[in-house]
Amino acid sequence: MQYPKNLKTITESKKYEMVRLLAEGGMGQVYEASQFGAEGFEKTVAIKTILESYSTNPEFVRLFIGEAKLVADLVHENIVQVYHLDKFGPIYYIAMEYVDGINLEQFIQTHISRGMELPIELCAFIISRVCRGLEYAHNKRGRDGGRLGIVHRDVSPKNVMLTSEGVVKLTDFGIAKARQVMEQEEGEVLMGKVEYMSPEQAQYLETDCRSDVFSLGIVMFELLTGHHIFETEDLYETLNNVKRKRIPRPREFRPDLPEDLEKIVMRSLERDLKARYQTAGEMGHNLEYYMYHDRYGPTNVTLSNYLKKHFLGKPADGHDPHHTSSETEQLPAKGSSDTDKLLAHRADTLFGDELSKARVQGRKPAK
Ligand SMILES: Nc1ncnc2c1ncn2[C@@H]1O[C@H](COP(=O)(O)OP(=O)(O)OP(=O)(O)O)[C@@H](O)[C@H]1O
Ligand SMILES: [Mg+2]
Repeated sequence: MQYPKNLKTITESKKYEMVRLLAEGGMGQVYEASQFGAEGFEKTVAIKTILESYSTNPEFVRLFIGEAKLVADLVHENIVQVYHLDKFGPIYYIAMEYVDGINLEQFIQTHISRGMELPIELCAFIISRVCRGLEYAHNKRGRDGGRLGIVHRDVSPKNVMLTSEGVVKLTDFGIAKARQVMEQEEGEVLMGKVEYMSPEQAQYLETDCRSDVFSLGIVMFELLTGHHIFETEDLYETLNNVKRKRIPRPREFRPDLPEDLEKIVMRSLERDLKARYQTAGEMGHNLEYYMYHDRYGPTNVTLSNYLKKHFLGKPADGHDPHHTSSETEQLPAKGSSDTDKLLAHRADTLFGDELSKARVQGRKPAK
């Protein structure tokens, strides 16, 4: 066989085999899958399929592909990497890095349902990592050297994943913009997570990276206190809350929170754009200063050990001798039945529905 001297194109399409359904999200399904290559090469990936009603809407597809192109080259430890976007029959799908772990909503809800305190230092660590992922994406430049102007627009606990190795990863970059088209067309039923919107987003004003900072502030408040600031059962009331409800102080719900952390939360939640953190990097820096300036703060290994111990039923094997955080110790011992339930939950692939119910039932709205 004659080989071309200079390879120009490869047109073979990739081969994936679905291993199991992981979840059903608002836009389609997420599978664990195997990608196959030459001579038995196999790699675990996640495949996210986009519902046919979305895949066949030309305006959705235009925006979806436009944004996917923008975020295609995002490669950062704190971002779930997209490998490939393609079409199978009428359905678009995205192949991406598979995350062996849990999402932040599961992390929060499991603490609440077990009556465990959310671990303050680790919560600060998790948010600091999301800040660094956001900062990288916000600053990403294209081939011509100009800023791409990437804004996530859907920073929420379900889109933050924690790997069993203790790495925090933000996912679903570039999806929210296209999704909005469908929401506008199909009305309120599909209107996504308004409770994590910034006031600018809720008013359909122009958004920039500071909008993601506000959304992350809402997530951080919930992560530290177990309370959601704006959420109610009614979509419009929630939207109104985002626009004008008084923002409570986290210490009203959890008096043991360090004041320095409270200040960081409150600054990320400033409705006045000029008073808010101007960048996610600035917020990340303040969190890192809080965690590390006078002590050996939490690391990936601390988070990994914590997740393995309390969530994943794996031995905590990372070496973390300096971190003597008593909060890991003060937690009530993990009931094995809870762990079983959580793992079964994943295996059953039902957490889309079940957790959102748990969310409504388990979460106390902030007064
Ligand atoms: N790369 C991945 N690896 C492993 N699990 C993933 C991956 N991406 C998403 N998931 C899991 O699948 C779930 C569903 O994701 P999906 O983005 O479809 O919906 P969602 O984020 O839960 O909600 P929404 O539909 O509002 O975006 C996530 O909550 C997460 O737990
Ligand atoms: Mg998602």
